[in-house]
Amino acid sequence: MRILGLETSCDDTGVAVYDSDRGLLAHKLYSQSRMHAEYGGVVPELASRDHIRKLLPLIREVLADAGTEPASLDGLAYTMGPGLAGALLVAAAVGRSLAYALGVPAVGVHHMEGHLLAPMLEPEPPAFPFLALLVSGGHTLLVDVRALGDYRILGESVDDAVGEAFDKTAKLLGLGYPGGPAIARAAAHGTPGRFRFPRPMTDRPGLDFSFSGLKTAALTAAQHQALDAHTIGDIAYAFQEAAVETLVIKCERALQQTGHARLVVAGGVGANQLLRSRLAELGRKLAAQVYYPRPAFCTDNGAMIAYAGSVRLRAGQTGAMSFGARARWNLTELTMPATASPG
Ligand code: KG4
Ligand code: ZN
Repeated sequence: MRILGLETSCDDTGVAVYDSDRGLLAHKLYSQSRMHAEYGGVVPELASRDHIRKLLPLIREVLADAGTEPASLDGLAYTMGPGLAGALLVAAAVGRSLAYALGVPAVGVHHMEGHLLAPMLEPEPPAFPFLALLVSGGHTLLVDVRALGDYRILGESVDDAVGEAFDKTAKLLGLGYPGGPAIARAAAHGTPGRFRFPRPMTDRPGLDFSFSGLKTAALTAAQHQALDAHTIGDIAYAFQEAAVETLVIKCERALQQTGHARLVVAGGVGANQLLRSRLAELGRKLAAQVYYPRPAFCTDNGAMIAYAGSVRLRAGQTGAMSFGARARWNLTELTMPATASPG
């Protein structure tokens, strides 16, 4: 089954063709981050308009790269939510219309299920069940993944998502958008130990997170110093250490609590090298295997949507003919038809 996947939930236009027999045939991403950088964050109306400009040309390029005629597509998958409502509607409208014109089914994919399944595109995919740490600009989730479509949230952020905290801290340090990679770059020149920020909610039991206090700690530090390049690096260093250590402590707890021997890490913050090396240490300590998508598939992309869509379409799921988008959509609302199999 050959599926075209479309992602427009935020500021990346992603398109991919996934074939359940041959794997990923082609994928492309157009990032709007330079446009939004001018404003220090994503401007929803500009995002929707840019998706409209970029989506059709990108679809043509990806189909050409995949050597696929539209008529040989077996289905369409698009991100139906959660995300920015106007941005989501672009892929939903294009995906549904194209499917209707081609006479093939279309399925609306949950963006976080896309992230969660992204490691399945790698040569050694994890087997079910596993623990998933989903860390993006909008979500910080620890999920007990028993099977496809069987998700139980073990912990989540009570305020800012960890990616959002990276973005806000980068902004207050004048490091630009997106903040995650900018903080990581600045931290590489930071002095260990000059600042120490809290590891929020690690001193009490439970698997929930809170990142707004950490961002405030960075803000307070920044307000009490002259913000030269050294100090920016030192604050970025301390922030990254605190954010990563907090995630690692909660992963350790969740692995012990669930007894899972596999940990999947996905979402934009999963591209963070410090997080990856610390989780590798944790994996060695607990004899757990840690799985990631390649860095380009940690952040938003069309490949994960094409893959998740192919799994759901193969299981016989299609949405109604109406197209809709869901700006808010809880991962635990998902279910799976009984016939589902990964592929
Ligand atoms: O998954 P994603 O691309 O989009 C959402 O679904 O939100 O995640 C974007 C988030 C942003 O907050 C960005 O700053 C963060 O992921 N991010 C990183 C890194 N690369 C992206 N955070 C820390 N380190 C990175 N290397
Ligand atoms: Zn995402």
